[in-house]
Amino acid sequence: MIHAVYPGSFDPLHNGHLDVIRRATRIFGRLTVAVLQNPGKRDQMFSSAERLEIIRRATAGMEHVNAESFDGLLAEYMRISGADVIVKGLRAISDFEYELQMAHLNRQLNPKAETTFIMTATRWSYLSSTRVKEIARYGADVSKLVPGATLEFLRAHQAAAADQVG
Ligand code: PNS
Repeated sequence: MIHAVYPGSFDPLHNGHLDVIRRATRIFGRLTVAVLQNPGKRDQMFSSAERLEIIRRATAGMEHVNAESFDGLLAEYMRISGADVIVKGLRAISDFEYELQMAHLNRQLNPKAETTFIMTATRWSYLSSTRVKEIARYGADVSKLVPGATLEFLRAHQAAAADQVG
């Protein structure tokens, strides 16, 4: 049975991520969605505990999928978790150069971990967590772009932000 890891910031999980998760489960016997604890991105919205909880809720009905967080190098996490394969989503050619670099570096750091790519479905190829957050921060509707669990956390975040202003 092949154990695959789908790593990312997932800040927050959107429908493109969920599509990759669904398709990966058809290929691999076990899938761990691995949330990077400290992505160090300027526009971070959710804590790693929140991002993890969103993923757990959104994948609750899926067999052989679990989610956990990690810190440090992915290559090291692969070693500790004993997983065989790294899964990455590719949306467009613009993702490729960055992903190619990461794949080569990860292979150098951990030759046992094989990187694989799943093409994101065309209908989500334009989607990113950055854009979801941007739209949500303006209070616009993102319900067609994210799963229900993400929507709940976004709404709670909006409510907390409104409370602070008020
Ligand atoms: O969703 P993202 O932000 O594109 O995910 C990027 C992620 C988490 C996969 C990547 O930043 C990562 O693997 N970070 C862990 C640190 C690491 O291993 N860096 C790469 C060294 S080659």
